Amino acid sequence: MKVRYLAAMHKKLFLLLFFLSYVPSLWAAEIKNEPILPLNLPLDSNPKLIALGDQLFHDRRLSRDNSLSCASCHLLSSGGTDRKPRSTGVGGVMGGIKAPTVYNSSFNLAQFWDGRADNLVIQAEGPVHNPVEMNSSWPEVISKLSRDAAMVEAFGQLFSDGITGKNIAIAIAAFEQTLVTVNSRFDRWLTGEQILNERELRGYRLFKSYGCISCHQGANVGGNMYSYMGAKGDYFKDRNSEITQADYGRYNVTGHEDDKHYFKVPSLRLAAINSPYFHDGSVENLDEAIRVMGRYQLGREIPDDDIRDIIAFLHTLVGEHNRFKP
Ligand code: HEC
Ligand code: HEC
Repeated sequence: MKVRYLAAMHKKLFLLLFFLSYVPSLWAAEIKNEPILPLNLPLDSNPKLIALGDQLFHDRRLSRDNSLSCASCHLLSSGGTDRKPRSTGVGGVMGGIKAPTVYNSSFNLAQFWDGRADNLVIQAEGPVHNPVEMNSSWPEVISKLSRDAAMVEAFGQLFSDGITGKNIAIAIAAFEQTLVTVNSRFDRWLTGEQILNERELRGYRLFKSYGCISCHQGANVGGNMYSYMGAKGDYFKDRNSEITQADYGRYNVTGHEDDKHYFKVPSLRLAAINSPYFHDGSVENLDEAIRVMGRYQLGREIPDDDIRDIIAFLHTLVGEHNRFKP
């Protein structure tokens, strides 16, 4: 009798687990059919590797004179950028391009404005070696970290070959993959909550009808294609400042004339809070950035009312992360 009762319980438990295993797909089935998808945290993660990456992301020994960490230019509490038109590297050297946010960067098709790094592991090599950023090298960084017993121990537990440049980059990338701003009001609306007001919904409809969505789309509302800056007007001529190497964008990677002024379309997930805008950091206000987009990407002058509502929509894209205070 007792045995049969237990067997019945097991069966119920089995059925419950069976049902629960379908919950994610039921959830997925409820997502509205829209060109923007909700952001999700990665499913497989190694807490020890992430903790090491977190530490390295904040470790100033990654720069030549121990003055800068990744977090110096990508401040996690303020949107994952330094909110400056140009970043300042080791010794106060001025960089040539605006720092994008590190939040949600794992969703981008490639890293950097010109997409020169295929993924976050390759990306992490960049700033360490860049003379206008950390201006260091792996041998220099490894020799510093190797004098730190706790670091040697942490790497030893995770990697058979201990502290190497590649392993530093792997740990940082694992940490960056957790920098996802989930649960935005827009994502909650996508999964069925009646949470957006009329103005925000109108802003989203305008975002689609003007055609912003043809470039800014997918989970990151951008980051999944390259696009010409100035499709409908000569942005660089009208900007009234000298064209720099950074302005060439994708051309710097491919060397193809046709790729001049092509940039990775930036994610708009945190655009509402992360000024200044564009690769050159030339625009301070979001309303002006949208006006520029209308003029140079769509050939339209967007009226103020529409801009106001598009801004309301962009605010709904800002999600949550425990390090992040919008
Ligand atoms: C001196 C400031 C500075 C430091 C220090 C710095 N970065 Fe950056 N970061 C930038 C700038 C500027 C860019 C844009 C460069 C470009 O696109 O050519 C960038 C781009 C990135 C991107 C690409 C994001 C995207 O959407 O394309 C990631 C990821 C990133 N940095 C992570 C890091 C990591 C990891 C470190 C530490 C190893 C680091 N950064 C250190 C300024 C900095
Ligand atoms: C043809 C493709 C395309 C269209 C259409 C387009 N954008 Fe963009 N958007 C881009 C590119 C490329 C950039 C980066 C340009 C640069 O940095 O020089 C960008 C940048 C932005 C930025 C600045 C983001 C940042 O972090 O610097 C905002 C905000 C923006 N777009 C909003 C919009 C809105 C709103 C619309 C519709 C009115 C729109 N875009 C239409 C391609 C497009």
